[in-house]
Amino acid sequence: MAFTTSLQSRLMSSFLGERVIQSAMNPLQPLHRSGCPSPKDVSKQVPRALSNLADILFNKRNQGSLQTDKRKRLQKGKVSPRRPVPSHVPKPPYVDSRQLPGISSGPEVHDAKGIECMRAAGKLAAEVLSFAGTLVKPGITTDEIDQAVHQMIIDNGAYPSPLGYGGFPKSVCTSVNECICHGIPDSRPLEDGDIINIDVTVYLNVSFLVHSKYMFSQIHSYYFWKVLSTDFFQSSLRSTFIIQGYHGDTSATFFCGNVDEDAKKLVEVTHDCLQKAISICRPGVEYSRIGKTIHDHAAKFKLGVVRQFVGHGIGRVFHSDPVILHYRNNERGRMLLGQTFTIEPMLTMGSINPVLWSDDWTAVTEDGSLSAQFEHTLLITENGAEIMTQC
Ligand code: MF3
Ligand code: CO
Ligand code: CO
Repeated sequence: MAFTTSLQSRLMSSFLGERVIQSAMNPLQPLHRSGCPSPKDVSKQVPRALSNLADILFNKRNQGSLQTDKRKRLQKGKVSPRRPVPSHVPKPPYVDSRQLPGISSGPEVHDAKGIECMRAAGKLAAEVLSFAGTLVKPGITTDEIDQAVHQMIIDNGAYPSPLGYGGFPKSVCTSVNECICHGIPDSRPLEDGDIINIDVTVYLNVSFLVHSKYMFSQIHSYYFWKVLSTDFFQSSLRSTFIIQGYHGDTSATFFCGNVDEDAKKLVEVTHDCLQKAISICRPGVEYSRIGKTIHDHAAKFKLGVVRQFVGHGIGRVFHSDPVILHYRNNERGRMLLGQTFTIEPMLTMGSINPVLWSDDWTAVTEDGSLSAQFEHTLLITENGAEIMTQC
């Protein structure tokens, strides 16, 4: 998900290069960098003081049941060296570029061919996520999950989108317990009772066969592409193929062993928030209804909705317009037929404010309370929304 902060009047993506001062005591504070492009169609944020007041007035959360005393705070582990990607796997343009990617302007709206590509990328992401979920057990390290995810993605001829994204060092995000998002896989073994969000994004390159005069294109499955991308075929066919990459982005929160009832409820409500938000999507609906739907449902259970991280347009680029807020808001903008974007609410049991670790990525709740998240990539269809990230 992209990152936004309440101290700025406009929403920005963390991937624009914005960085925060890390502190165990203070919530996120942005360091402003000059020269950062502001995304078009971005929105105003409620100042934190006001939003906290609103939280106190309207959404008093379960401060009494945090149980952080029983659970050890998440500790940083050792991050293994970067995993290689075979040279035949096409990489997204941001990899190895010194430029930090941002939210690119303009929505992703696809024709029939583009929709097929999005379906293929989404399906692969969903299959990888489902496989990753089967690995969640006490004792496995998040680095081992990263390794398995990395392998499955490259075995399918795709690129793990997070690897090298704005300097992110691993192929998947693993966010344990109070980690809200962007957890970096490391040497920490999962413990009985942990909850873990696994966020998988793949960049799948689909090859189009181009015939001289007509742009007749044929979409090949990624399995087929794997065969075609041997050196021999590449050298003989390169001129007749256009390679286009599409991102599929999805996440889910899994239980490790025996999880307590409060944590289960948090995960269940977060899941339901996403499903309810998906159900109101169709052409012409205001994006702001997504935030209202999620916020209303979370509030019924006295759970908080994180504001600093948002959903985003996705397709040929990883993060694009529109910015999707998960909390009540008055932003303008309506859903378009053929458009793809993510919804990825993060709910917390206590504070909704993140603190960033010194690795510049790992975002944890300031009070150590649990956080859960689910994410899907969606396509706006005539009658509603199709979930692209389904097996
Ligand atoms: N998958 C995340 C999202 O939902 C983004 C992760 S980018 C990374 O948008 F660099 F942190 F991996
Ligand atoms: Co996302
Ligand atoms: Co994601």
